[in-house]
Amino acid sequence: MGNDAPATDMATEAAAALTALNGKPADGVWSAPGRVNLIGEHTDYNDGFVLPFGIEQRTWCALSHRDDRIVRVYSTFSGEAREVPLDGIEDATFDGWSAYVFGVIWALTERGVDLADKAGVDLAIASNVPSGAGLSSSAAIECSVATALNEVWDLGLDSAALAKVCQRAENVAVGAPTGILDQTASLRALEGFAVFLDCESLESETIPLPLADEGLTVLVMNTHVEHAHATGGYGERRAACERGAEVMGVTTLRGLTVADLPKAQELLDDVTYRRVKHVVTENDRVLETVATLRGKGARAIGDLLLASHASMRDDFEISVPELDLAVETAMAHGAIGARMTGGGFGGSAIALIPVERRDEAAEAVLTAFAAAGYTTPTVFTEKPSQGPRRDV
Ligand code: GLA
Repeated sequence: MGNDAPATDMATEAAAALTALNGKPADGVWSAPGRVNLIGEHTDYNDGFVLPFGIEQRTWCALSHRDDRIVRVYSTFSGEAREVPLDGIEDATFDGWSAYVFGVIWALTERGVDLADKAGVDLAIASNVPSGAGLSSSAAIECSVATALNEVWDLGLDSAALAKVCQRAENVAVGAPTGILDQTASLRALEGFAVFLDCESLESETIPLPLADEGLTVLVMNTHVEHAHATGGYGERRAACERGAEVMGVTTLRGLTVADLPKAQELLDDVTYRRVKHVVTENDRVLETVATLRGKGARAIGDLLLASHASMRDDFEISVPELDLAVETAMAHGAIGARMTGGGFGGSAIALIPVERRDEAAEAVLTAFAAAGYTTPTVFTEKPSQGPRRDV
């Protein structure tokens, strides 16, 4: 259990990969974390509330300057260098993992940032955020690259602007119709805190999450069930929310409260109603979680996490049997609360658990998955960790 390579090694790995690419030392290495969403799922693109925290695993971006107008990128996980000229990048299309990197530059130009006087760069990416785990490995790439370029190109963009740029990269260059949760979580993460974000105003507050002081930890159970938000269920859920909002006469579902649900049930078909109900009740659960954390502390949020999971399983219908089994098994072995985290259809579940029950629960999850004939999950602990930074 625990995390892979120490952070300094990963920064060194990214720098070494860059030198292997171009024979030059890195001029700097920047990094940004993945995220766990504690609660507030599929609320971001409905202008609602979310409560994520940055995780210990990060993505590192080593950079060296060029004297032409080419951007070249290499990663330790793909082994293939790709390049694009800065001239004409606003009309370019991208494929594969490098779309997360080039998409950030494309999105800067879409935003009207003038890159005409900027020199090209060589970039090398290294990451220990597991991909496909629902822990925002893609946002971590985007945010590490955006943080590096913001500094070396002296763009002066704040975290809200950078988050938008990274989200556009994901929406347009990659083609996944996702919200602002992952990028804001990565860019505003703070060690020991969760980020309480209002996705309508984009205002956020950091909420203390002193889990260790309360004898707690967060267990992540990566089911290894693959999900892809560029296709399928994610976009369908988003469309259902938009449909629901339209029939209810509001711009987004943020405009509804639980008091509107009886009317929604009258006006909407059953499936759309249940999608709407999830989002409206989930917003309330985020607010209640924040209030509870501030008052009674993390030991009192278990029922909210469980209610969130039930809502995603039964009303939003984005859970899978592996996620349900992870949640149920953790609950049977000491967890205070548990839920799937992220976009759903696979990825990870989290459990809030007293430290002394952690090993027992992890063992039980492995045993339960084996008994069910499921792929062996990866189980590890997380704590709220630092946001973007320059490492070298
Ligand atoms: C994915 C998306 C986010 C958010 C979550 C669900 O992680 O990238 O924008 O919609 O799913 O809460």
